[in-house]
Amino acid sequence: MSNVIAIDGPAASGKSTAARLLAERLNIAYVNTGSLYRAVALAARRAGQEMGALSPEFLNTLKLEYVPDQNGRYELKLDGSLPGAELRSAETASGASLVATQLAVRDYLLGVQRSFAGEKLIVMEGRDIGTVIFPDARYKFFITATPEERARRRLAQSGEVTDGATLAEVAKAIAERDRQDSERRIAPLKPAPDAELIDTTGFAVGEVVDYIVKKVQAGT
Ligand code: C5P
Repeated sequence: MSNVIAIDGPAASGKSTAARLLAERLNIAYVNTGSLYRAVALAARRAGQEMGALSPEFLNTLKLEYVPDQNGRYELKLDGSLPGAELRSAETASGASLVATQLAVRDYLLGVQRSFAGEKLIVMEGRDIGTVIFPDARYKFFITATPEERARRRLAQSGEVTDGATLAEVAKAIAERDRQDSERRIAPLKPAPDAELIDTTGFAVGEVVDYIVKKVQAGT
């Protein structure tokens, strides 16, 4: 069994915030795996690569590393520096969803993600942590919320939404990413059969974190 708390779920479900706070509460490391796919998309764009079909040769030139900051939290570095706000842009998000459909990319990132598991419990958050990366994770949660609630949360968050975007536009972009993530052939977005589903609609993130902390502390 891997010492991993797997937190999966669709875009803007609140899973990143919940995963980050959970790791803080438990005083353990947290890895946001979406940032790996985003970094691949960003690097491909910077290098002028055809985003729809990245080659293993290109992927082997990437320098992706997670380094702990002074609080012990992992930060992703691309080619030796922090990618910054560009990593969170809407353009990078849709590029990530596109590169994430490719077997070469998923294979490459599988090894990167598995290298995090060790003796200490960690929180890993993404789309396929409980199904593909760590099917033997000690804890698995699948976090959802209604599409309306997710669009509202995304709009309230800075970073991934262009200024002046309407709720309907944000909802459409989220729905498109959900479709691409759920319909892809390799490692589609879906709950692991043994994951606990948590619908966070109407709940504050603190309540979600309290619930998961209790489960983990009870060892269930
Ligand atoms: O979580 P985030 O929105 O940053 O993820 C960006 C994209 O990366 C997702 O839409 C998805 O296509 C891809 N992804 C994935 N598997 C993961 C994490 C992210 O396919 N474990």
